[in-house]
Amino acid sequence: MNILAIDTSCDDTCISILKVKNQKSKTVEFNILSNIVSSQIKIHQKYGGVYPTLAKREHQKNLMPVLKRAIKKANLLKTSKNQKPNINLIAVTVGPGLDPCLWVGVNFAKALGYFWQVPIIPVNHIEGHVLVNFLTKSDDNFQKSFPAICLVVSGGHTQLILMKKISNYKIIGETRDDAAGECFDKTARILGLDYPGGPAIASEALKLSITKDQSLIRLPRPMINSKNYDFSFSGLKTAVLYDFKKRPEKIRHSRKYISEMAKEIQQTIIDILIKKTIKAAKDYKVKSIILGGGVAANKELRKQFKERIKKEIPSIKYYLSNTGYCTDNAAMIGVAGYFNQKKSTKNWRKIQVNANLRI
Ligand code: KG4
Ligand code: ZN
Repeated sequence: MNILAIDTSCDDTCISILKVKNQKSKTVEFNILSNIVSSQIKIHQKYGGVYPTLAKREHQKNLMPVLKRAIKKANLLKTSKNQKPNINLIAVTVGPGLDPCLWVGVNFAKALGYFWQVPIIPVNHIEGHVLVNFLTKSDDNFQKSFPAICLVVSGGHTQLILMKKISNYKIIGETRDDAAGECFDKTARILGLDYPGGPAIASEALKLSITKDQSLIRLPRPMINSKNYDFSFSGLKTAVLYDFKKRPEKIRHSRKYISEMAKEIQQTIIDILIKKTIKAAKDYKVKSIILGGGVAANKELRKQFKERIKKEIPSIKYYLSNTGYCTDNAAMIGVAGYFNQKKSTKNWRKIQVNANLRI
């Protein structure tokens, strides 16, 4: 079966084609025929964040060329121009995300579904960030991994989810204000670094040679010891702003200060995410921890997460996909679509966008 997956939830126009094998057995095999991500970063960089109307316009411009590239890369281009490519299902993100952007992708999927007479599966973007971890685990009987604790950390979300099995989720904690990725983006902006802030802060932090103990900067770790599984990152952003403002001009624009602050911001976010996730995993006695979302692409977070799990809960299985599948892509929507085939419909009128969709 070939699934064509579309994601336009934020600022990347993503189309992927997956070939799914062994559908009847317990182990599924996903073969990525193409995975195109057309980034809009350069367009939004001057605004320091995503500008929704611009993002919508770019999706409208990009979808057709991205579709053509995806079909060509997958080797599904037909010699006769009007022939339908070999696609059996269309998976599309219906939320959460930016409402005008989501509609562009959903309407495109509806048009394709209607003309090709192919069913459409509405997909939750957050579930995509979770299930992409099963993309390369075809030889692994992943059904034995549940219950699991999933940490989804992206630009718009920071959620701890108890997953009893595929399609059975319960949010046990989430951010009360800013998301972890948003915190990276906003603090990077204070420091005069580029958007997206996460990779910019990570590369700035790498430039620092002094050890953590010698650093002059110590940021608060909001809610790190709270009894619940919630997060709060807006206070961190304010603390960075105060520290930045109180420094003399010469210091705060120095490379040393910026790198030191970048390293402390990154470490603060890592400390909070790891502590809360491990606490949830222990409390719920889960069999695995699953990480997803753009922030999970952070190298230092990945390294420290692995070390801490190995040290504190070595019996637990740990899922973390390649960095390219942590940030937004449509392969993750294809995988989530596959597991949600029950929801597929040829009645395109039924498919609605929900910008605030919850898992
Ligand atoms: O999942 P994603 O691509 O889009 C959303 O669904 O929001 O996540 C984007 C977020 C941005 O806030 C970006 O700064 C952050 O992920 N991010 C990172 C890294 N790469 C992307 N944060 C920390 N380190 C990274 N390497
Ligand atoms: Zn995302």
